[in-house]
Amino acid sequence: MIAAYQSSCQSRVDAALENLLSSPRPELQRLYAAMRYSLFNGGKRVRPLLTYAACEALGGAPERANAAACAVELIHAYSLVHDDLPAMDDDDLRRGQPTTHIAFDEACAILAGDGLQSLAFEVLSDATHNPHDADLRLAMLSALARAAGPAGMVGGQAIDLGSVGQTLDQNALEIMHRHKTGALIEASVQLGALASGRADEHALKALHIYARAIGLAFQVQDDILDVESDTATLGKTQGKDQAHDKPTYPALLGLDAAKVYALELRDQALHALRPFDQAAEPLRDLARYIVERRS
Ligand code: IPE
Ligand code: IPE
Ligand code: MG
Ligand code: MG
Ligand code: MG
Repeated sequence: MIAAYQSSCQSRVDAALENLLSSPRPELQRLYAAMRYSLFNGGKRVRPLLTYAACEALGGAPERANAAACAVELIHAYSLVHDDLPAMDDDDLRRGQPTTHIAFDEACAILAGDGLQSLAFEVLSDATHNPHDADLRLAMLSALARAAGPAGMVGGQAIDLGSVGQTLDQNALEIMHRHKTGALIEASVQLGALASGRADEHALKALHIYARAIGLAFQVQDDILDVESDTATLGKTQGKDQAHDKPTYPALLGLDAAKVYALELRDQALHALRPFDQAAEPLRDLARYIVERRS
């Protein structure tokens, strides 16, 4: 089921993203080329999938979540372009291709990341793209800004870079992962729920518990794959965490215990969805996929 759901959501979000990034003025061709390169190079689109699936779990038609799905993927794409820069993880391979700063240049990659980030907020704020009441658009903007910023992803990246070579305890590692990866995944679910127009307090609370669990599980699995996968499958250089002495779950707990932990988090997520009916099946599939994926 996940493959069919994934491809229909991918087509939906890709068409909407395409629409946002078309027809730049001639002077901006290179900047737009770098933004397009960073967005349309084979990402799994897990965050948009979560956005659509959360919207559908509450009975909302998926097109209600198009702008939200674009926004979370734009933030994600920007975060990867900057994460790969020499000043950060210094990676030259992403999704099986040269990273943006290698394919273009560093300044262009920084600006492409900045541009992708701004576009995320533009698409959410604009009623043409995000045709919901102003109150709902503001709630979406505020949730995404918080998740992307210093209290979320940017904060997590700062903790990550400040922790190189250190041994974090499990609590500190969890805080880092919840910020750098969990926050945007939580926002992806929250924005989808908001976009449905049917999110009550109970549903939002249950979805928050679900999203917190899979958000952490996603980065635990990313850490596991960095140890046990291979560069061709991953599309990024395997073993970089160890090479850079990054604190990770396999480094702290060992590979087997990290895998057990990922499965526990999946079960917590599934448990949180118990009050939901069949419409939440894509969310359940995504929880399983996040810990079973091989890339
Ligand atoms: C990789 O994210 C970076 C992390 C936050 C762990 P994904 O594994 O979702 O990357 P793509 O978009 O599919 O390449
Ligand atoms: C990235 O974490 C998290 C982001 C906010 C981009 P990683 O540095 O582990 O992601 P990969 O392994 O390079 O994709
Ligand atoms: Mg990193
Ligand atoms: Mg990295
Ligand atoms: Mg990683």
